[in-house]
Amino acid sequence: MFRKAVFLLVGCLFLLPVLAEEQVQQKDAVPDISDAPPGGDFTLRSSRGPFNLKDLRSKVVLLYFGYTKCPDVCPTSLAFTAQVLNELDDEELKKVRAVFVSVDPKRDTVETLDEYVGYFHPNFIGVTGSDEEVAVAAKLYGAKYNEVALKDSAFGYSVSHSAVTYLITPEGELRFIFPHATHPAIILEAVRYVLTGN
Ligand code: NI
Repeated sequence: MFRKAVFLLVGCLFLLPVLAEEQVQQKDAVPDISDAPPGGDFTLRSSRGPFNLKDLRSKVVLLYFGYTKCPDVCPTSLAFTAQVLNELDDEELKKVRAVFVSVDPKRDTVETLDEYVGYFHPNFIGVTGSDEEVAVAAKLYGAKYNEVALKDSAFGYSVSHSAVTYLITPEGELRFIFPHATHPAIILEAVRYVLTGN
């Protein structure tokens, strides 16, 4: 735990100089290291069958929890992640995946998820599972979500959810937590830092 906390802190310090105008936002976003979630492997489902995060060992993973009917927060986050992926060359892309976990398994099937993440970038994988399986994954990363009833809406309910993006190293360790709307240049720098070690 201590080692991970140090990594999170060092990571944020490293990222501070990237963009001057982002400094305050990044500094404010330095997680309270005592509250840093542990991260770790989980098993859910994709359209190809069981999805084990462990199978992405050796790749950098950008992980996000959301749902496809989200009106703007998820689309913004995924578009930013797609911008990061679009900056990578072919060799880098082989080593980077983005995983979108739906916290709305009642409405998001694996087919729905494929279609949704496909709009953003081919390196996205859409996954979900039972309520219990999703809860296990979310708890590992400290992701929060809950249904909010909507009156006079065809959707019936929305899902309030945390909107951070997690960077998991090729060794499977949670290394960075990016607040919602973190500039893609910062995430890109972190991805390359983890890929190359400098
Ligand atoms: Ni959302």
